Parts: sequence; C-alpha cells; structure tokens
Amino acid sequence: MEIEVVIGNIAEVEADAIIVGFFEGMERPDGDLAVIDKALDGAVSQLIGQGEIKGKLNEITIIHSLGKLPAARVVVVGLGKKEELSQDRVRLAVGETCRLLQQKRIGNVATAALGAGVAGITLEGSAQAVTEGALLGVYSFRRHITKQSEYGELKQLTIVEADETELPVLEQGSYKGRVLAEATKLARDMVNEPANYMTPPHMAETAASLAEAYGLELEVMEREQMRELGMGALLGVTQGSRQHPKFIVLHYRGGDSAQIDLALVGKGITFDSGGISIKPSEGMQEMKGDMAGAAAVMAAISAIAQLKPKLNLVAIAPCAENLPGGEALKPGDVLTAMNGKTIEIISTDAEGRLILADALGYANKLGAKLIVDVATLTGACHVALGDECSGVFGNNQELVDRLIAASVDAGELMWQLPMYEQAKEQLKSEVADIKNVGGKWGGAITAAHFLAEFAGETPWVHLDIAGTSLSEKNRGYLVKGATGVTVRTLVNLALSLAK
Ligand code: BES
Ligand code: MN
Ligand code: ZN
Repeated sequence: MEIEVVIGNIAEVEADAIIVGFFEGMERPDGDLAVIDKALDGAVSQLIGQGEIKGKLNEITIIHSLGKLPAARVVVVGLGKKEELSQDRVRLAVGETCRLLQQKRIGNVATAALGAGVAGITLEGSAQAVTEGALLGVYSFRRHITKQSEYGELKQLTIVEADETELPVLEQGSYKGRVLAEATKLARDMVNEPANYMTPPHMAETAASLAEAYGLELEVMEREQMRELGMGALLGVTQGSRQHPKFIVLHYRGGDSAQIDLALVGKGITFDSGGISIKPSEGMQEMKGDMAGAAAVMAAISAIAQLKPKLNLVAIAPCAENLPGGEALKPGDVLTAMNGKTIEIISTDAEGRLILADALGYANKLGAKLIVDVATLTGACHVALGDECSGVFGNNQELVDRLIAASVDAGELMWQLPMYEQAKEQLKSEVADIKNVGGKWGGAITAAHFLAEFAGETPWVHLDIAGTSLSEKNRGYLVKGATGVTVRTLVNLALSLAK
C-alpha cells in the first residue's frame, strides 16, 4: 500500500472513498463532515437524525456521493465518545474501515488526520495511528493460496491536511507508523507461516535477510557452538527433531559505548508437539506459532534499526523444534543449563522455559544491562488474562513500569502478575537444582519463577504471549491469525530508553 501525505481539503479530494470520523453523542456533523454533508444535500445529517449514524466506535456507514463530490464515496466511521478517544481507537477504527473497503475492492482511499487535536492526540500521533491502522487492518496471509483473484487490494491511502506547515510533522508520524506496522506484519508472516516452511534454518535465513536489509550484525550458532557454550537445556529440547537448531543473535549498535543496553530474547519453537509429553491433537496446528516471541524480537530490532535510537541492543532467538523422535528428551531426564544449573524434566512440553534458560544465560554472558523476554509460554496465562492481554512478570519494578508504559502507547494490553515467593517452592526437585514444571495451579507464575533463576541479578521482564499471539477474529487492526503482538511495545521501549 502506498501512503502519502498531501496538502488539500478532504472534501475536494478525488478518491474511491474518503474516510471521515464522527463522535458518539454529537447531534450534527461539524468541521469537514459539515462541508461534505452540505455537498451531499444533507444526507449525513439525515442519517444521524434517523439514528443510522450513531458514532459508536468502529461503526461504518458508506454513502455514495453520486457525483456531488469528487470522491465516489463518503465513509463515516464512528470514533466513540470524544472524551474517550485515544491513538489506539484511531488505529482500530481505521483498521476496521480499510479492511471493509478492501473487501469491497476499493483501491484508493483518502482521510484526514483523524482525531488530531482531540484528547491530547497530536497530528504526528494521528498520522502514525492512521498509517498503522490501515496497514495492519488490511493484512492477510495468502502465500499458500493459489487462487489470488478473489481478493481486493487497497493500493493507495492519502492523508490530507489543510495546513501546509504541518506537512513534515505528518510525514514523520506516518513514517514511524509505517516502520512499526511493517515490522508487525513481518512478525505476523513468520508466525502464520506453516512449520514445514518456518523451520529453525528458515528463521536463520530470515534473520540474514533482515541483517542485510537494515545493517544489523548477525551471528547464527549451530549445535557445535551450543555445546561449547554448555547450552544443555536448549540441546535437550532439540534432540528429538531432525531439524537443526539455530541460535540467532542480531546486534543493533546505535550507542557510543560497547555496552549492551537491552537484550530482547524470544522463544523460537518452530513447532511444539509437546515432545514425549505429547499434546492432544486438537488444535495442535496452532503450535506452528510457538516461535512468536522470536519473531517479535527479530521484527522489533529491524524496526529499531530504521528508527535509529541512540542505544545498543541485541535480539536473541533460540530456535528449535519440539518433536518426540527416537532420541527425544524424556520426563525424568536431567539437563545442565549454560549457567551450570541442573534441571529435572517433568514435562517435555515445558520446553519454552528450557530454551529460554540458555538464551537468558547467553544474554547475561554478553553483559546485557536489561533483559526483556517474549514467549508463548503457558496456557495458564491465556486462562488467567484472556486473549487480548499479555502477562508481565519481572524482577525489577522500574523496568516493568517502563515496559507497561511503552505498551500503552502501542495499544497492546498488558497486566503484571505477581511473583510471590511461595510459588517457587513448587519447582523444588529431589534429583536436580530445579524442576521444569510446578504443580497444577498458577502455571504462568511458576514458569516466570523458573526463568528468573536464569535471568539472575540482571533487571529482567518476561512477557507471556500464549494468549495474545493469535487472534480468533478480525477486530480493528487485528485480523484472524497472528497478531504480531509486542513488536510495537518493544520498539517503544527501546525509543524510551534512548531518551
Ligand atoms: N507453547 C506452549 C504454550 C502455549 C499453549 C502457547 C497454548 C500458545 C497456546 C508451551 O510450550 C506449553 O506447552 N506449556 C505448557 C506448560 C506445562 C507443561 C507446564 C502448558 O501451558 O500447558
Ligand atoms: Mn510446550
Ligand atoms: Zn511451547
């Protein structure tokens, strides 16, 4: 999709459709919509009067202009109550509208900077939200569908602004929105890609193309180097699969010092069958997306490389497949992680925390000052918080607060869960330093406690995205399938740390 910012008047723009916002509770059109209403001989006010246009968030009304305006259609989108408007509501409304228009095979759309000047939203913030909403809302994953002719494509979005002096601000906002949306789409593509394509080697190839495109430094470690580093936990997980594991490290250097300011660590299980502790077959296909954490950190660092904050960052993605082959890890086995701790395996299906144990160990070996990990880690987190809110855990409240602030700007819901000490008792083992699974209850919390053992003293935050990495439905800028969750939050965090 091409996105352009132009100077002009929305009512005078030639397009297949112009999008105009309307707030809930207003009795008549104002601003641009009043001008448009007049041109349409009062059609908009009539629809408001009849209660067809209420302004509820994401309500969409399409009015054909029949030659009364240069644009063929006027699309009135509800933005909800004026005082409740947020950047994310703009993103949602634009996403919903653009997807509907694309389904109707409309190719060329124009809009103003929706919501700018309302509830603290700047022109820059609006242009960013409009751009993100449009790009993410029309996203689809069709790589493996041979008949493409049935789908429309929204090709052009024009953001129209009357004041010439505001052009640079709008362009800046739209640029940032594009970078964030394209990175989110990359993560979605990686997660939606079937596991017979998105294997650990393919993850590494993807990392190589990102390194090339955005000037990142790349290191991919093979089994041999994992052995040298003592990554026994990761090696244990991968041993039941014929796929070669890959340990991907991408460096972004934007700071002056040699220190790594932030390490982003993502779980990269390209398929999670559960291993010998095999999962039930129903829904198992969703486990092709068990590398969503790895996808998120790789996509985030590629966006960060484009926005160029002044700090040094590393993305670490341990990638492996969890299958029950003849050499597979077994319940009762004991593994030794990179930091020397021994782990008794209770369930081979608690594999994410095992590969993360070594990845956190590696982040510490690099001397990272802060660590954030992202993982589709526990069904328990999904049960606790539902499918629109990710779980947040950490050993450092300042970093937790920073991360949650970054998530608010992204419109990604996050909620901190407690790491009370009592839960840690569940991980005591009789034969090793720690067990990989606790009892029946509080599974998201015991998983976080397990990770904390490997994060050590470094300020660390853990994001459990088991519930949020996939969406069951189309909603606003989310579409059914992978969400690309945390990409935009992680980028915001990096930008805020560089300030
Ligand atoms: N990848 C799963 C978690 C998951 C479940 C992600 C559903 C997305 C949707 C993880 O590896 C896993 O199997 N977790 C187990 C842990 C248990 C064995 C302690 C779980 O949550 O059941
Ligand atoms: Mn598992
Ligand atoms: Zn898993």
